[in-house]
Amino acid sequence: MELKCTLMVFGFFLLSSESYGCGVGFKTMYRFCVDEDECVTPSPCGENAQCFNTDGSYYCTCDEGFQSYPANFTATTGQCEDIDECKEDPDVCGTKAACTNLLGSFICVCHSGYSNYGNDQSECTESSQMRFCVESG
Ligand SMILES: *[C@@H]1O[C@H](CO)[C@@H](O)[C@H](O)[C@H]1NC(C)=O
Repeated sequence: MELKCTLMVFGFFLLSSESYGCGVGFKTMYRFCVDEDECVTPSPCGENAQCFNTDGSYYCTCDEGFQSYPANFTATTGQCEDIDECKEDPDVCGTKAACTNLLGSFICVCHSGYSNYGNDQSECTESSQMRFCVESG
């Protein structure tokens, strides 16, 4: 629904600038054709993405934890999807933890007796009393 609206608004811009005699991605200003900034709100890139205006066009890239094909895309060529880090790299949490995918992120939940010492995106190792004392100051 949101994407549909964005596309309609975007399409309207294209039509209106073309009808004034400027090419796609440009608009008239004082009888000159100037670049149209497509990166206005709402962004044509959708959620979890950054929009970059270019001369006559624009492109989108995904926020960290998200991906698209191709990596540079527009409203008509792609969108950002969550990366399932647990599937992408089954070893991301090591063998001593359960990996849980989150939207744009993930966490490693250590099996009992193991710890990743507060860095819940790292491998879990055997809890050691000495190491715990050192790390907690
Ligand atoms: C995306 O576009 C930017 C600007 O044109 C370029 O610098 C970058 O290399 C592109 N990245 C990819 C993956 O194509």
